[in-house]
Amino acid sequence: MGVLANHTKGKNAPDKIFRISGMAKERAAIVGKENITNATTGAFLDGDGHLITLKTVEATMKEIPFADAAEYATIEGSPAFIEAAIDAAFREYRPDAYIDGIATPGGTGGIHHAVLNYLEDGDTVITMDRYWAAYKSICRETNRNFDTFVMFDENNKFNVQGCVEKLREYAAKQTNVFLVLNTPANNPTGYNVRQEEWEIIMAELTSIANNGKNNVVLLLDIAYIDFAAPESRAFFQLFNQLPENFLVLVAFSMSKSYTMYGYRLGCLLCVSSNKQEVEDFVAINKFSSRATWSNCSRLGMLVMEKINQEPERKAAFRAEQETLRLSLLKRAEVFIKEADEIGLKVCPFDSGFFVTVPTEHAEEVAAELRKSDLFIVPLGDGANAGLRVALCAIPEEKITGIAKKIKEALDIVSK
Ligand SMILES: Cc1ncc(COP(=O)(O)O)c(C=O)c1O
Repeated sequence: MGVLANHTKGKNAPDKIFRISGMAKERAAIVGKENITNATTGAFLDGDGHLITLKTVEATMKEIPFADAAEYATIEGSPAFIEAAIDAAFREYRPDAYIDGIATPGGTGGIHHAVLNYLEDGDTVITMDRYWAAYKSICRETNRNFDTFVMFDENNKFNVQGCVEKLREYAAKQTNVFLVLNTPANNPTGYNVRQEEWEIIMAELTSIANNGKNNVVLLLDIAYIDFAAPESRAFFQLFNQLPENFLVLVAFSMSKSYTMYGYRLGCLLCVSSNKQEVEDFVAINKFSSRATWSNCSRLGMLVMEKINQEPERKAAFRAEQETLRLSLLKRAEVFIKEADEIGLKVCPFDSGFFVTVPTEHAEEVAAELRKSDLFIVPLGDGANAGLRVALCAIPEEKITGIAKKIKEALDIVSK
């Protein structure tokens, strides 16, 4: 009999991504890393497998005196940091609403607080069936349930109707209807929800908010937003003047956008037409932060503040971000073109770190691919299974031929 408390039972889901990337590293140690393709890692790497970093961010960080950075930050984050995060998230599409934020360790911390503070025990979080696995862990950890709608229909189109039906189902079951959307540049598919799809979702959420029974919480996970075209932020304008009981929360992250993955900083933003709701948001999330991680990286905050406050530095930073985005997009274009040419089905891709090849045989195909030293993470099971190809982790020259290898492995496995 172990010492662990009962509620910890079953909280041991092994992380597939780390398992397969572990296999890739073991193999690289034997045959040399140049002889394998490791398409597992969720970080933007150069041709030598090193992390690509933004030089403007590095230079800014080096200008900050250690004693300044080493001090405690305030729990909620400095006002200049919150303003920088609002600007970084929305740019020129800032909604016409009351907006405030709270510092969090990465986007993860923001998602945790949102799920904790806007649902009752046993309530359900809704998202699409191709999702980042940590959502489910956060729900398990906070005693919430987790349900999904099918992301793409039989025509490989975003299943907006499935989303609407799921929202209606939970509107009948719980007071706060809580939808998580990871868009644009979705992980694991690279999909950006389209403006016309957004309009349908917003119409449904607004009608639920106005039905006299429910509240609505829409949590947007924008971890990869700076790898989508800047104008893909247009949907933020749909959050102008929402009903007072319709809250939009936005989990902003410095990890990918500032290449500061390990520094652990993000900001959970709250958008509402009700000033009191935003004040309550700050107060309760400050309490939760105090009770978990306390305060966040002051160095990260100072970096964001400085970049935001100095126009020349900001312009150089944004230009560098754009270069990164375009170079990642080039990798995707190689893959998608080859997939199209050989008839390999891929989930609709717009931008981001990953593409997904849908297949019910994901585990077997991934195992088959490992025989030729190509390491790809199989995700999901049954109808939502697929191979998540981390284009962010492999250089353009190694991407050529991957689609063909996947197609061949699929053919072998489905024989
Ligand atoms: C979809 C998605 N959301 C959020 C995150 C949060 O990352 P972080 O906590 O580093 O900001 C990640 C990181 O991999 C992610 O893939």
